[in-house]
Amino acid sequence: MSTYDVIVIGSGPGGYVAAIRCAQLGLKTACVEGRETLGGTCLNVGCIPSKALLHASHMLHEAEHNFAEMGLKGKSPSVDWKQMLAYKDSTIDTNTKGIEFLFKKNKIDWLKGWGSIPEAGKVKVGDEVHEAKNIIIATGSEASSLPGVEVDEKVVVTSTGALELGKVPKKMVVIGAGVIGLELGSVYARLGSEVTVVEFLDAITPGMDPEVQKTFQRMLKKQGLNFIMGAAVQKTEATKTKAKVHYKLRKDDSEHVIDADVVLVATGRKPYHDGVGLDALGVEMTKRGQIAVNDHWATSVSGVYAIGDVIEGPMLAHKAEDEGMAVAEVIAGKHGHVNYGVIPGVIYTHPEVASVGETEATLKEAGHAYKVGKFSFMGNARAKAVFAGDGFVKIIVDKDSDRILGAHIIGPGAGDLIHEVCVAMEFGASAQDLAMTCHAHPTYSEAVREAALACGDGPIHM
Ligand code: FAD
Ligand code: NAI
Repeated sequence: MSTYDVIVIGSGPGGYVAAIRCAQLGLKTACVEGRETLGGTCLNVGCIPSKALLHASHMLHEAEHNFAEMGLKGKSPSVDWKQMLAYKDSTIDTNTKGIEFLFKKNKIDWLKGWGSIPEAGKVKVGDEVHEAKNIIIATGSEASSLPGVEVDEKVVVTSTGALELGKVPKKMVVIGAGVIGLELGSVYARLGSEVTVVEFLDAITPGMDPEVQKTFQRMLKKQGLNFIMGAAVQKTEATKTKAKVHYKLRKDDSEHVIDADVVLVATGRKPYHDGVGLDALGVEMTKRGQIAVNDHWATSVSGVYAIGDVIEGPMLAHKAEDEGMAVAEVIAGKHGHVNYGVIPGVIYTHPEVASVGETEATLKEAGHAYKVGKFSFMGNARAKAVFAGDGFVKIIVDKDSDRILGAHIIGPGAGDLIHEVCVAMEFGASAQDLAMTCHAHPTYSEAVREAALACGDGPIHM
């Protein structure tokens, strides 16, 4: 039996970051992971592999659609799917090995196996029981199931199966127009699949700024994705090679069937804590099956903390990482802090979509008086030069003080541009502060400055 200051259960972005910070703060730390490799959902079957496939398929799309106009003529590359998967796997490999290296560097013990908490202060891995003054549960999430839809990870798949299909399907039906459906739907549409997205609601990406939703859907349609909106999927019927998706249109209750070679179920994720022993331990849960925590990420059981997808809040890697750092600091007696009002969300399609803070809808609901400054990438020289003039930056500010309350970007580099606004929001900046900051020309970031100018006396290039 070994004794630790901290044992972290789960090595995803929440768990591994918590472990590293704990070790850096002088705490004797171990991390339990049941997978073959470290890094959790994000590195193994989430953020990283999906971004590798998005990158490769985007390169193909550029070659097919934009090369000729720039004077780059000749045959477009053909798809070697096995090699693309190998590239994706090697990307996973370098990243997961990187975490192993960081664990060694920080003298963190990797306890290999599935962990449970037989009682407070103890973690069981296999036959061994280890003592820990503090335990951090970071066991993440898994794909939600849909009644009537049986996943086999071959024909009816979750994102995990969609990242390693045997071949590029001719027809793919995606259930759910959320982040996973649109990112992976884009991958396969670019690779030549006929992709149809079936969505329950009337707009894609729920909760996002409505103007962004409309523009985004228009752009995706232009890229060849088909949408069936306001449709509730009832069930799927699958053979070994094909499936039928039955859905009902909400407007008239009419029933329809659509055929597919592969069905991707992307209707959300739910917290995962199987086998940890939370019930017996008496850990309080929320109504939605998450581990309930206070504002120091402490559960109802003394010495047991929880972070990441397994607790409340957006299921995002960087949210889990922030909580990982903060909980380590709390355990070390320091001041751990996460600003939940400034957590960006990014969709890595082409173009990227990014948002942070309030939307007009949330402000209207709260009766908060606001102003909007908007700038189209059509007025941005750099964007036009790379065929990326479609899209805009929208900044929302407090009507009286000009303090930035939120931003919504659809366009080139949106996932990076949003961070300028995040930093501004962290510092309580006004749109004028952004507008007065010199931005290099020609960069996409000038569109952010112009949107900030639009909150005041007006943009220059519009
Ligand atoms: P996880 O990453 O889920 O890690 C939990 C780990 O705990 C797992 O490795 C699991 O094996 C382990 N574990 C569970 N129970 C036990 C146990 N009892 N004992 C030992 N080990 C255990 N987020 C983004 O911010 N950006 C993206 O681009 C993005 N893309 C995504 C794409 C896909 C396809 C998916 C599915 C998700 C994506 N996400 C993305 C979400 C992101 O992956 C999660 O928010 C993030 O991984 C959550 O981190 P976590 O540490 O809470 O849990
Ligand atoms: P999601 O919550 O983003 O979207 C699910 C969609 O499915 C919603 O639009 C919902 O209305 C729809 N839906 C639900 N039931 C349906 C039904 N019966 N028929 C038709 N449509 C139905 O969930 P998603 O895409 O599965 O992603 C899960 C999580 O993973 C998200 O919370 C996200 O934060 C995270 N993620 C983040 C990424 C990023 O940051 N780029 C990338 C991928 C995932």
